[in-house]
Amino acid sequence: QKKKAWSGRFSEPVADFVLRYTASVDFDKRMALADIAGSIAHATMMNKCGVLHDQDLADIKRGMKQIIEEIKSGKFEWKLELEDVHLNVEARLTQLVGDAGKRLHTGRSRNDQVATDMRLYMREEIDTITDLVCELQEVLVHLAANETDTIMPGFTHMQVAQPVTLGHHLLAYVEMFERDRTRLIDLRRRVNQSPLGAAALAGTTYPIDRNYSAELLGFEAVMQNSLDAVSDRDFCIEFTAAASLIMMHISRLSEELIYWMSQRFRFMMLPDRFTTGSSIMPQKKNPDVAETARGKAGRVAGDLISLTVLMKGLPLAYAKDTQEDKEPVFDAIDTVKDTLRAFIEMMPGVTPNREEMKKAAQAGYPTATDLADYLTKKGLPFREAHDVVGSVVKLASNRGCDLAELSLEELKSFSDLIEEDVYEKALKLESSVAARDHVGATAPRQVRIQVARWTDIFEKR
Ligand code: ARG
Repeated sequence: QKKKAWSGRFSEPVADFVLRYTASVDFDKRMALADIAGSIAHATMMNKCGVLHDQDLADIKRGMKQIIEEIKSGKFEWKLELEDVHLNVEARLTQLVGDAGKRLHTGRSRNDQVATDMRLYMREEIDTITDLVCELQEVLVHLAANETDTIMPGFTHMQVAQPVTLGHHLLAYVEMFERDRTRLIDLRRRVNQSPLGAAALAGTTYPIDRNYSAELLGFEAVMQNSLDAVSDRDFCIEFTAAASLIMMHISRLSEELIYWMSQRFRFMMLPDRFTTGSSIMPQKKNPDVAETARGKAGRVAGDLISLTVLMKGLPLAYAKDTQEDKEPVFDAIDTVKDTLRAFIEMMPGVTPNREEMKKAAQAGYPTATDLADYLTKKGLPFREAHDVVGSVVKLASNRGCDLAELSLEELKSFSDLIEEDVYEKALKLESSVAARDHVGATAPRQVRIQVARWTDIFEKR
């Protein structure tokens, strides 16, 4: 049982601890289907090149078919002493089909095999995640469509700045997720390259056809340097970087949802099924999903750091350190998928509290810039207008009232350019947002245009 695939030159079996310490099967078995696909492509190519007989290829395919069934039904027996997914599958194949199983590894190494598996596995996950990001965008655009005219305070430095529309605010996230989505599509091209045929590091003596196996596996191209092919893991780093950006964006959204739903803001409510209670405080309703997501963003950033540090000192070509690429990548995949799914479910259930947001937008003089613009349009240089409005704000704030609550006379005492129309044109929240009416700005009309643009984009996807 302790006899290993490579034990020929050894005089004693590997120590139990070493086995446990160096084995990866517990986590790399999730790539089993990719591993089998890679093996079948390799065998098919070797057959075409005249190295593997038709009968062997047929046996390998038949054996693999059964192994796939065993894995899918949970009947496959994974053995730690067989180290990793590759040797487990190969050993079972040999059990099932005999010599053909032993011939499978001709002209191949676990080094190009594992690199191939990782790329195949990741390619599929990238596609799933890309779709999930798109779904989240759709959910957000749908929500924005209902809130094109909803006024809320916009903040800079967490201080009330200018009124914005909630639709506009939500669409900001749709833009972030669009960059995330296209980042995935872009890096997929670099993932989708075939390392197969690089063998251990130098290539192989067999007359292989790397283009053929690459084509069978749907790879876009063949990696052009065998040393690079077995040792490159930048595709893992790139992927976790993209995943951590997605998480970072979700984390920012989470942070906003968390304070929006706090009693101090009461801007919106999250659906009950996405909140949790307290075991001691009966009144509590906590935004746990958003908080968990915010926390998990740190975890995925950690996955990225693990990989960059893992790779930074590795000489060419393969080194066993590289096996440590798996858990961070898998963790990032699982975390980002779960988090996206949670938000796709949760966001449609968010109920904005429009009155409360508008009330909050009234406090903190968010139309002060509008008043300055009003004066500027009447000929006052902007810097002077800024100064005048500063004094107006000072008066209102001393009195504890809103700008619109000052009388026309009082306003006029600061500048006689101010006239009756100031209330309607400058100080009203609705006029403030409506006036910002150009591409990318917050006016309800612009938000509607953006919603239409996105809807159109989704229809064409
Ligand atoms: N489980 C190994 C990994 O993930 C497979 C490659 C092993 N190659 C070797 N020469 N020991 O990296």
